[in-house]
Amino acid sequence: MKIDVHVTPLGLLAGDLAGRGVVVVDVLRATTTVVTALANGAKAVIPAATSEEAVRLASNLEKDGVVLAGERRSVKIEGFALGNSPREMTAAAVAGKTIVLATTNGTPALVAAQGGDPVLVGAPANFKALAERARAILAQRGELVIVCAGREKQFALEDAYTAGRLIKAIRKGIRKLALNDAARASVALIDEFAGWEEALEGSEAARQLAEADLGEDVAFAARVDRFGVVPVYADRRIT
Ligand code: MLT
Repeated sequence: MKIDVHVTPLGLLAGDLAGRGVVVVDVLRATTTVVTALANGAKAVIPAATSEEAVRLASNLEKDGVVLAGERRSVKIEGFALGNSPREMTAAAVAGKTIVLATTNGTPALVAAQGGDPVLVGAPANFKALAERARAILAQRGELVIVCAGREKQFALEDAYTAGRLIKAIRKGIRKLALNDAARASVALIDEFAGWEEALEGSEAARQLAEADLGEDVAFAARVDRFGVVPVYADRRIT
């Protein structure tokens, strides 16, 4: 059995993930936001690689049921109804709606992972349910790929830490598990921190969010197992 981690989706070529079980992680904040929106009753989330693409995708959908959401440098995109804060994804704002979401790193990573089957959306917020599902995929297929969104085309601490925790949670009882170098490094990171909060709070993404007065999103994202949903990305939409 084998688990590969990609610390950003940059090196992935079209076809690399075809037919492989994939987990996409962007803890601060896109995948936490997607999990929260779906747990609070959103019909679907459509990830867009850019804000222009989000506007185009939304214009092809029925206006009534669509909400445009997204950020640039963590701040809500002008003209969009919502930003990328999981705290904005309340039932009142999203229930029954299709959210078209454009973020700097997270939604491009989701779009890059499209060839996977299945593509699961993961975060601390749905960790236990995600680990169960990922473990079942590993058992069935003999392999799993974890794609971290990273930050500005670079390694992101909070995503790699989550990848490490996920590997630790699903490897129990498995005798022979091959890990690529990034997966080994992700597991080694676990011991550097006392827990989720410390790992997330120390990250560059957390610093950027604090500067944008969005520091509360870090505490939100660090609270593990808020939700039991495991969103799946297929046919260009996450449900
Ligand atoms: C991203 O996709 O880059 C993020 O989730 C950044 C953010 O929302 O602050």
